[in-house]
Amino acid sequence: LSAAGAGRDLAGLRVLVSTGGTREPIDPVRFLGNRSSGRQGVAVALAAAQRGAAVTLVAAHTDEGVLATVSGQRHIALERVSTARELEEAMHTRAALSDVIVMAAAVADYRPVEVSSHKLSKEAAGDGVRSLDLAVTPDILRALVADRANGQTIVGFAAETPQNGETLVDRGRRKAARKGVDLLAVNEVGWSQGFESEANALTIIDRAGAVLNDVSGTKRQVADALWDAIVVTRSR
Ligand code: CTP
Ligand code: CA
Repeated sequence: LSAAGAGRDLAGLRVLVSTGGTREPIDPVRFLGNRSSGRQGVAVALAAAQRGAAVTLVAAHTDEGVLATVSGQRHIALERVSTARELEEAMHTRAALSDVIVMAAAVADYRPVEVSSHKLSKEAAGDGVRSLDLAVTPDILRALVADRANGQTIVGFAAETPQNGETLVDRGRRKAARKGVDLLAVNEVGWSQGFESEANALTIIDRAGAVLNDVSGTKRQVADALWDAIVVTRSR
């Protein structure tokens, strides 16, 4: 692959990036969420803009300090969302006008079936185990792939904790095939790995399961390597 971040090689491209973690409300003060800081997706958006692309960044809950690095960037339009539903709507509205879509958002897989209009109280529930009914959220990436326009490139992200003897790459290959994405960027996460940090390691896998790159560095360096892989994929 070429050197990271060479010139304005993305000029003329319309890019749609999602980032951050969705929050699914339980009641007015509580939600189901995840540990995503939005850092990697923001780095992907900043790298694209610097390389000449016109970028729309759809940000679910993102660290405010991280998001501040986007404000004032002339070539990044920012839209903020909260739930998986809102993210789905924002992505669908913009997908058809995008040459490249990167789904870096951490989308909640489930949402509470019922959202209480008042704060749930322990007093009403009593002691002991409680359960919460959950519904599956829409798979936004899969729907984008199903509606993919001619010449459009769709990239997914996957944060994995290798398990059952399967390697990170094996899991990534299966997910890339299942999702039908052009590229899948896989990173290993754990209790003390992959979140909140400035550094990241990504394995970039194509639809056929080939490993295009194995890169580690700052989230910005990793983002540039991802754009290099996207450029190569679009040119063949
Ligand atoms: N994704 C999505 N909509 C969802 C869930 C995930 O668009 N409801 C996207 C993510 O943004 C990411 C990719 O799908 O780009 C892979 O997410 P991941 O959570 O790894 O995949 P899942 O199919 O949810 O599988 P898992 O059971 O491993 O969570
Ligand atoms: Ca998931």
